[in-house]
Amino acid sequence: MAGPGSPGTCQQVPGSPAIYTAELSKRYGSTVALAGLSMTVERGEVFGFLGPNGSGKTTAVKLLLGLARPTGGEAMVLGAPAGDREARRQIGYLPELFRYQSWLTAREVLILHSQLLAMAKPRRPLAAEEALHIVGLAGRGDDKVGTFSKGMQQRLGLGVALLGEPALVVLDEPTSALDPVGRHDVRLIIRDLRDRGATVFLNTHLLEEAENVCDRVMVISKGRSLATGTLSEMKGLRPAVRLRVTGLPASWWQPLTAFGQWSTDGDWLAVEDMKSGQVPDLVAEIVSLGGRVEAVIPEEQTLEERVLELLGDARGGRPAKHLGESVPASGGAPVAASREAAEES
Ligand SMILES: Nc1ncnc2c1ncn2[C@@H]1O[C@H](COP(=O)(O)OP(=O)(O)O)[C@@H](O)[C@H]1O
Ligand SMILES: [Mg+2]
Repeated sequence: MAGPGSPGTCQQVPGSPAIYTAELSKRYGSTVALAGLSMTVERGEVFGFLGPNGSGKTTAVKLLLGLARPTGGEAMVLGAPAGDREARRQIGYLPELFRYQSWLTAREVLILHSQLLAMAKPRRPLAAEEALHIVGLAGRGDDKVGTFSKGMQQRLGLGVALLGEPALVVLDEPTSALDPVGRHDVRLIIRDLRDRGATVFLNTHLLEEAENVCDRVMVISKGRSLATGTLSEMKGLRPAVRLRVTGLPASWWQPLTAFGQWSTDGDWLAVEDMKSGQVPDLVAEIVSLGGRVEAVIPEEQTLEERVLELLGDARGGRPAKHLGESVPASGGAPVAASREAAEES
């Protein structure tokens, strides 16, 4: 692994992805936290890493940042082996659980972290001010962290992660303590990051959070990837359509079976599990059978439906009710989702 004596390591692999892992794994005693994770995150992407509580998201982040050592496999971040010091200077990180020194002011926390980033001294106050502004804490810079609500502390943590214009920003459950306004703010901040070309790796169990900002997602469970793809690939895997059809004798539905599973409700015909691109053929078939097509409504699966389906398949067919209902890991009790844990005041 390259050390501090090899500056610029992270630039040494031209065109390297932001993150690359192959069969990355981590055990804690008998617990398999990560069971062979292979993934690539391209530069400039907002990548959502989704999974129920306990599925290995935080473990993966710790391995990527060099905060924990893998038991197997490899990981490269910004073109350097995970944990490389120079590469780490270009990474902003909001940990899932953190606590800043309660006696410091928000500004002091930011200036301290600018110093840890080796930012030039004259730049530090301005960088701190900018970060306070971006995360909605302008005017609170002189308040002590000990007086901050959980949500304000999370905003400050996000400010720390944004210092120094990092090339890669890793956010581990960034909105767990935020109210809807705070979640909206985080969404805008992530979009700004993408606009300036940064890569964002977003750990979350909140599907609407991923659906709102991610270019691509990976769904994991029990330390394994269940699926990965763009949002539209994930949602459009099993397209469905609803059509309002009149004039077709009931006995003529049979040829439609070839298009997918269909059901009817009055004049409405629903066809699910279609192959992509078959809607025009389906409409033509209905017309050739004598039907009059009065409406065609495409029905995209939501990301939530898709993810719950994947998790249901992973546990043997029984659909998970929500993402917080963990797929049972060896001996681990399911952990409830913290969807309602908004505590910001
Ligand atoms: N330091 C640790 N020691 C022992 N087990 C751990 C440790 N960190 C994580 N685990 C276990 O690894 C699994 C994955 O945890 P984690 O990566 O925190 O999941 P997530 O972030 O998706 O909620 C869980 O079963 C968890 O209990
Ligand atoms: Mg976690």
